[in-house]
Amino acid sequence: MASASFVKLNNLSSPWIGQRSFAHHSASSPSPPRVSFAIRAGAYSDELVKTAKSIASPGRGILAIDESNATCGKRLASIGLDNTEENRQAYRQLLLTTPGLGDYISGAILFEETLYQSTKDGKKFVDCLRDANIVPGIKVDKGLSPLPGSNDESWCQGLDGLASRSAEYYKQGARFAKWRTVVSVPCGPSALAVKEAAWGLARYAAISQDNGLVPIVEPEILLDGDHPIERTLEVAEKVWSEVFFYLAQNNVMFEGILLKPSMVTPGAEHKNKASPETVAEHTLTMLKRRVPPAVPGIMFLSGGQSEAEATLNLNAMNQNPNPWHVSFSYARALQNSVLRTWQGKPEMFEASQKALLVRAKANSLAQLGKYSAEGENEDAKRGMFVKGYTY
Ligand code: 13P
Repeated sequence: MASASFVKLNNLSSPWIGQRSFAHHSASSPSPPRVSFAIRAGAYSDELVKTAKSIASPGRGILAIDESNATCGKRLASIGLDNTEENRQAYRQLLLTTPGLGDYISGAILFEETLYQSTKDGKKFVDCLRDANIVPGIKVDKGLSPLPGSNDESWCQGLDGLASRSAEYYKQGARFAKWRTVVSVPCGPSALAVKEAAWGLARYAAISQDNGLVPIVEPEILLDGDHPIERTLEVAEKVWSEVFFYLAQNNVMFEGILLKPSMVTPGAEHKNKASPETVAEHTLTMLKRRVPPAVPGIMFLSGGQSEAEATLNLNAMNQNPNPWHVSFSYARALQNSVLRTWQGKPEMFEASQKALLVRAKANSLAQLGKYSAEGENEDAKRGMFVKGYTY
């Protein structure tokens, strides 16, 4: 059986580089077959590494504003605005044209509508970002659907046509991609759901790299549940081991990916809260056990934590050097104060941009391990957890 797979590997040829051989010793075979193992060299390898490094640059992280139209509608509804294209554009313009944003933000994840949209004055959003030294990114998954045969779990759709969509997004200026799938602790998670999540992420990552987009790999372990932090750690280790197994099987180049994990915390309904130090300890334990140092950056999601909580936890993780850039890719934990300040009022436009800058700077400091929560207002401390949250 072993020799059959060796033969198959030996047949790998030209588009592969880094081939190395070693002799396979066997008592019955005096001249052993040569075995090759390979890392694929894609047309975009150098560019992918450069893009990933620029996103994972010191003191910077990602602004996630890739809410689908339905989810963006919920954000707008929270301040009494209708979910129209005009309002979505106005809100995204407010965020993306914030002066000085590029000092703290290295990448912005957009929804497809925003990738092709412009400011009211006709400047493409992708150009606004490039001028601010921020890499434009694109959400490429097509959302979650029930997973038949599982324990009420879901799977992430979007692989059909992904290669051609990715090539188009690249032409439009996107240089990285995001695919978010979820894993639920209270639902098990079942072996089927974990395998499906990991395989989908790996196929997406390979297709993204093939089309010049750095894939953000995001198996979100939902906060839902009353389980202790140890249970989250156990599930996170299982999930990430499968994700890396399939990433490797799909010949994904680890130097050209970014991860978007959930922090390892107790379930949102657990009786005890964990301190930033405890969250940092469990999260870093999990990452050190599962993530190779070839991966350039870990960009956490906020998952319903309050703005201050997400920043404090990130800060705690950066008190000692890590093998990877440990940073943020927050949506709710960067947008909450902005929305509350803006309320859709033109006269609050600048104040709202300042509110975004305050959060972006706080997280930038946390990336450097230098954040102090002194002076944080009550709003920033308000949690945003929503049971069964969809994105
Ligand atoms: P939150 O930071 O609100 O969890 O969102 C991040 C994200 O992009 C989820 O995919």
